[in-house]
Amino acid sequence: MTRRKLVAGNWKMNGLVKDRDFPKALSDALGEEPRCDVLLCPPVTLLPLIAADKPDWLLLGGQDCAPQASGAHTGDVSAAMLADVGCMHVIVGHSERRADHGETNQLVKAKAIAALDAGLRPIVCVGETLDERESGEAEAVVVSQFLASLPECAADKIVIAYEPVWAIGTGRTATPEDAQAMHDAIRAAWPGDDAAALRIVYGGSMNPGNAESLLQQSDIDGGLVGGASLKPQDFARIIQSVR
Ligand code: PGA
Repeated sequence: MTRRKLVAGNWKMNGLVKDRDFPKALSDALGEEPRCDVLLCPPVTLLPLIAADKPDWLLLGGQDCAPQASGAHTGDVSAAMLADVGCMHVIVGHSERRADHGETNQLVKAKAIAALDAGLRPIVCVGETLDERESGEAEAVVVSQFLASLPECAADKIVIAYEPVWAIGTGRTATPEDAQAMHDAIRAAWPGDDAAALRIVYGGSMNPGNAESLLQQSDIDGGLVGGASLKPQDFARIIQSVR
């Protein structure tokens, strides 16, 4: 089964109204329609602005959503609100949210369920710390995080992002072989019989220099790109690494 690759940009807490023309700059840098799915996850403040003027191939996503559908939850954004402004995806359980906001696997799972209920595809993030890798526990940690954060759904309704915490924003990347081995372990742990349809993307200092060797691996179905997605030229070169 061939899975269409997905290259997603996670802008984190970056981007102001002046950056609303990013899709035009990205299109110019690409020069032609991408050969993969391309997703942009800017901050919520920019979603309606970017949705109003973007090429059809550029998908939009949120960076987080509330586990509740609506109501008295000051400051939170629901999955339905993201869908309402044109999102089709939402990242849940990013390691920065797990660390900064104490998000547990249980909460991440509730957010993923809320996303599915609103018709969004959750991108569920998992990854080990440096200590866990160095002590040889990486695979056990990641697989247990994956299983505990996973909503019940068909494999094509969800995306998994393997993001080793020690590789995020550090310039250190997992080797293509280590990343491939982890993606293979995640796919093997998928509880359904449709694991071949599950897209598992890699994140952690992906850049134009290392994207191609990562994206060539048989179980790496794309990338979740932080820093390099803020620069249209770099993001375009990563997208063009998909063969
Ligand atoms: P990075 O971030 O590419 O800047 O390492 C990736 C992510 O956190 O999604």
